[in-house]
Amino acid sequence: MNSTDSNPTLVARARKVTREYRVGDKRIFPNTYLAPMSGVTDISFRRLISRLAGGRTGLLVSEFITVEGLTRLNPRICRQMAFGQEERPFTVQIYGGEADRMAWGAKMVEEAGADFVEINCGCPAPKIVSKGGGSGLLRDHGNLKAIISQVKQAVKIPVTVKVRIGWAEDQINLLETQKVVEGEGAEALVIHGRTRQQGYKGLANWDLIALAKSKASIPVIGNGDILKVEDVIDKLERYGVDGVAVGRGAMHNPWIFGQMADLFEGKVPREPSLEEHKALFTEYLALLREEQDIEGRVLGKLKQMGARVLKCLPNAKGGRTDVLRSQSLNEFFDNLHKLLDSIEDYQGRALEAVRELNGKDANEVVFGKDYKN
Ligand SMILES: Cc1cc2nc3c(=O)[nH]c(=O)nc-3n(C[C@H](O)[C@H](O)[C@H](O)COP(=O)(O)O)c2cc1C
Repeated sequence: MNSTDSNPTLVARARKVTREYRVGDKRIFPNTYLAPMSGVTDISFRRLISRLAGGRTGLLVSEFITVEGLTRLNPRICRQMAFGQEERPFTVQIYGGEADRMAWGAKMVEEAGADFVEINCGCPAPKIVSKGGGSGLLRDHGNLKAIISQVKQAVKIPVTVKVRIGWAEDQINLLETQKVVEGEGAEALVIHGRTRQQGYKGLANWDLIALAKSKASIPVIGNGDILKVEDVIDKLERYGVDGVAVGRGAMHNPWIFGQMADLFEGKVPREPSLEEHKALFTEYLALLREEQDIEGRVLGKLKQMGARVLKCLPNAKGGRTDVLRSQSLNEFFDNLHKLLDSIEDYQGRALEAVRELNGKDANEVVFGKDYKN
């Protein structure tokens, strides 16, 4: 790896910010959290992230899991709770709109051995909101209260809640939501700084996240638009949060957790070499194969990662298209190696080129409709 930024001042700045927090009796270090992303952060992806970071990932979280499917013992849904021991401390996130089912689902999460259970209060998808779940709970604090209360009664493990700042620009109610979350005894609050109406458009409102933190009695994890270690330091310095959650940035920069941990250990974070890019995909392939043997699905997952990671390489546009059009695993790796071998004078990745985390040119994205994994 090369030294990026070779930025000793970053090391000095990292010494001065919060680096850990506690949830229940568990210390979370470093204070980074891989934000749950349905269709992305499955066990293979999380284990890859954990390996790249030498196990120093902070918190890893499952994709959101429907309590309808869990409590009806749907095998595919129950399997989504599986995690590797190296992922601890591990959170399973659940969603639903009925308090008794959420409590039942949370009990199953506890029995599966997770360290924490998280309630999803942020998903904007209409089919979830229409049943009262996800960000629907931001407009129904009575039900949110009932859900947290019943979940708390059902389990001994700490309960965390992930929210958005409100339903719409003119219905921002983060502080009221926070009051319910804290009042019912949840042990950490994760705040995605957008409204439900925004989907993934625009930038997250970190000022509101900071306001919530200034009033909080539990750890507050801020979330939105983090792509690199400089962003993490910036958010910790400017907004005083206890931790930060990284979502789409982890698809572009899966090394970010290790880079962050290095920085907190006093080392200048380094950019991955081109050889390490090759190793990334080889390792991901092995982890994917442990979970499934359908070649098309494995290839799809490799391409999902390729689309993001290769976008950060300088002058790789044509080669990247070839990689993403590959029809077989062999072709994928041939094209990948051809692309990586063709890059001259590599000085590190061009993360600024992907400032647009949505993966589209226009910052106009609606969850589940426009967002391209
Ligand atoms: C493809 C995709 C799937 C997501 N799935 C979930 C989910 O299952 N649960 C959840 O709480 N948030 C989910 N989110 C939201 C992210 O956790 C995060 O809050 C959001 O992407 C903002 O963070 P970012 O700017 O770092 O990406 C998803 C986001 C994306 C892009």
